[in-house]
Amino acid sequence: MAEPLRVVVTGAAGQIAYSLLYIIAKGDVFGKDQPLILHLLDIPVMMDVLEGVVMELADCALPLLRDVVPTDDPIVAFTDVSAAFLVGAMPRKQGMERKDLLAANVKIFKVQGEALDKYAKKDVKVLVVGNPANTNALICSKYAPTIPKENFTAMTRLDQNRAQAQIAAKLKVPVGMVSNAVIWGNHSSTQYPDASYAVVERNGTVEKVTDIIADEKWIRETFLTSVQKRGAAVIAARKMSSAMSAAKAAADHMKDWFLGTTPGKIISMGVISNGAYNTPKDVIFSFPVIIEDGKWKIVEGLLVDEFSHSMLDATGKELLEEREEALKIIQA
Ligand SMILES: NC(=O)c1ccc[n+]([C@@H]2O[C@H](COP(=O)([O-])OP(=O)(O)OC[C@H]3O[C@@H](n4cnc5c(N)ncnc54)[C@H](O)[C@@H]3O)[C@@H](O)[C@H]2O)c1
Repeated sequence: MAEPLRVVVTGAAGQIAYSLLYIIAKGDVFGKDQPLILHLLDIPVMMDVLEGVVMELADCALPLLRDVVPTDDPIVAFTDVSAAFLVGAMPRKQGMERKDLLAANVKIFKVQGEALDKYAKKDVKVLVVGNPANTNALICSKYAPTIPKENFTAMTRLDQNRAQAQIAAKLKVPVGMVSNAVIWGNHSSTQYPDASYAVVERNGTVEKVTDIIADEKWIRETFLTSVQKRGAAVIAARKMSSAMSAAKAAADHMKDWFLGTTPGKIISMGVISNGAYNTPKDVIFSFPVIIEDGKWKIVEGLLVDEFSHSMLDATGKELLEEREEALKIIQA
């Protein structure tokens, strides 16, 4: 058996982590032969709750889980980790301006970036889930200059999964037959869920979703807004934000990053932009990617029409504004 892999989950006493820890610990992310040591970081007032989570993990009696390290100290949390799920973040409270939310998170992700830089493995793969995820990932990377920028990513996989679920429901096919829906840009209401490259595989044939649906109004209005607003719909119904589906998406993202994407399949993740598709450089922008040998690659050369370009421009503009605000906070 391989040596245990150290994996940190922040916000470990929160609701996403409650679903995510089980998925990781039972071997669904890093493989069924990969023993794990889980580092669980939360803030001091949550240590009692975290103790309960540690007890439950023990009671799950999972053979791959070799040790659990609960802590409120980022140094302990990030030492020697190979994978980091950064879920913990300052939530938006009533009456809070976007600027205040960004300021609180810049502080958190600066501290965590510095700790990753000093104590984590240099090839650590970092997934930021805590919002605003794209800009938090950018700040974290900025404070971890000895770790490659390619190792910092933000989660838009939940949006991709939502998009594929909407398409499957519309076509009345199992969701497993639908792939390659793309999420462009920011994990916010400006994201662009794009069905242009999505396909349905059935009975050995691959068909383009837009050829089957052939209803531009549904694609550009109903589908687009239902994916963009799905998070709000879940909150309205559950009175709490998406947690089980967010945990599943975080696991999907990290699994594909470690183990690679299936040939022919495209996934979406927020990665450092190289300016592809005329997007702003040096922001964490969600692109279609494929992954091989632990390295993601933006899928270039997809046909992007005028409507799509305008959507990419809008979400890119928001990411530039967020970056500018975050940098102002840092320099203040
Ligand atoms: N990218 C996505 O698709 C997506 C989807 C859903 C939720 N989210 C975001 O994920 C985050 C977590 O959601 P949740 O439902 O689990 O929230 P939650 O409030 O249940 O849990 C968050 C946990 O983070 C902890 N925390 C706060 N500051 C911390 C710090 N500095 N270090 C370590 N832990 C800290 C809190 O104490 C809490 O236990 C939120 O920011 C949410 O907006 C992102």
